Amino acid sequence: MSCKTDTVSDAGGATRCGPHHVAIIMDGNGRWAQSRGRPRLFGHHAGARRVREVVECCPELGVKYLTIFAFSTENWKRTQVEVAGLMSLFRRYISKEMKALAARNVRVRFIGDRVRLDAKLVKLMDQLEEETQENDGTHLTIALNYGGRDEVARATKRLAQDVAAGKLDPEKVDQETLPRYLDTHVLPDPDLVIRTSGEARISNFLLWQSAYAEYEFIDTLWPDFTSEEMGRLCRSYGSRDRRFGGVKT
Ligand code: FPP
Repeated sequence: MSCKTDTVSDAGGATRCGPHHVAIIMDGNGRWAQSRGRPRLFGHHAGARRVREVVECCPELGVKYLTIFAFSTENWKRTQVEVAGLMSLFRRYISKEMKALAARNVRVRFIGDRVRLDAKLVKLMDQLEEETQENDGTHLTIALNYGGRDEVARATKRLAQDVAAGKLDPEKVDQETLPRYLDTHVLPDPDLVIRTSGEARISNFLLWQSAYAEYEFIDTLWPDFTSEEMGRLCRSYGSRDRRFGGVKT
């Protein structure tokens, strides 16, 4: 079998092409907590604990790139208590997971606009990126203060600056140009986008990059998402017929 990407075995042992890059919208933390009579932040903490299991199952599933949506440019609209709690969770998560991720050969990157994030958090993000930059195992990208439209707007601004500075010929701008200015410029496009919690929308996540992605909208709330479910979705991806607008030959 010839695969553009890695292979994954299905339940019967047959080998299929698995997704090389999986992106996840981790939704449902709040409802998970509320159904237990607990504050929303309790759900976010449970959600953060799920991240490790999912990162760890990637090598076995042939998933080289994993991108997770941790905080959107729209999430600032939440209460001050929830936003502050999430920011503190991100700081704690990065400090605590730093060594574990580095030891597991995970390379971590962050995408999103860092300008609005507090300096302490940005320093930890820089440190984690630096400490894992030689790793060549799973590439974990965490989207923090990320919005697809915001990313395209920031990219367009830089592109326009290059045109104004004479570094880029506007006649040569085509669909290969803009991706070079996106936060994700070193990453391949996602093959599979998963959203948990039963909502069927993409909420401004990887808008440009997901043009040809396959989607899975599943009912599981993020804190209940397991490596088994991830495996099932990767196997199901392997049986899809991706034509990228062409026809099967
Ligand atoms: C959406 O659930 C989730 C978020 C806005 C935060 C995602 C954060 C985590 C999973 C935890 C930390 C991640 C890292 C990388 C440390 P929601 O609050 O919108 O849930 P709801 O729709 O049920 O209200």
